[in-house]
Amino acid sequence: MKRVGIFLLLLAANLSPTRAASPETTQDTRITIAVSNKERNQTLFEMRAFLEGFFSIQAALARHDNPAIASMARYIQTTFQDTANSLTSVHPEGYDQMSGFLIDSFGAVARAAEKNAQPQVVHERLIDVVAGCAGCHQMFRFEVHDKR
Ligand code: HEC
Repeated sequence: MKRVGIFLLLLAANLSPTRAASPETTQDTRITIAVSNKERNQTLFEMRAFLEGFFSIQAALARHDNPAIASMARYIQTTFQDTANSLTSVHPEGYDQMSGFLIDSFGAVARAAEKNAQPQVVHERLIDVVAGCAGCHQMFRFEVHDKR
C-alpha cells in the first residue's frame, strides 16, 4: 500500500491541466531502457494482454461477477509472473520492482475475488493494479537499439 501511495503522488504531480498544454509535453524525460525490437515486441504483447485483462476484470466487477474476476486475475498473474521479468538483464532495478508489484497486485485481486469479497474491496485491489501501470509508464520508456 505504501508503494501505491508513491505512485499516486507521482501521478498527481504529473497530471495537471496546465501541464497538458505546455511545451514540456513534447519532451520525454523518462528513464530510457535500451531494448532490441524483439524484446520490445514481446513486452508490447504482454502489455496488450494486461490492458485486455484489466478491461475484462472491470467489466466483471460492474456485474459483480467474482468468479470471472478471479479467473482472469489468476490467469494474468500466473501467465506473466515469469515472462514479466524475462528482460531482467536490460532493466534498471526500479523497473523490475514495478513489474513484480503489478503481478502481485493481480494476485491480490484474484485472492479478494476468490474469497468473494465485496465489490468495493475488489475495486480497491484493482486500483493497486492500475497504479502499477500508470507508475511504470510515468517513469520508463523503451528505445530500440537493435533492430532484430
Ligand atoms: C514495469 C513497467 C510497466 C508496467 C507495470 C506496465 N507497463 Fe505498459 N508499457 C511499459 C513500457 C516500457 C511500454 C513500452 C513503451 C515504449 O515503447 O516506449 C509499455 C507499453 C504499453 C502499451 C502499448 C502496447 C502497444 O502495443 O503499443 C499498453 C497498452 C500498456 N503498456 C498497458 C499497460 C497496462 C494496462 C498496464 C497495467 C495493467 C501496464 N501497461 C503496466 C511498461 C510497463
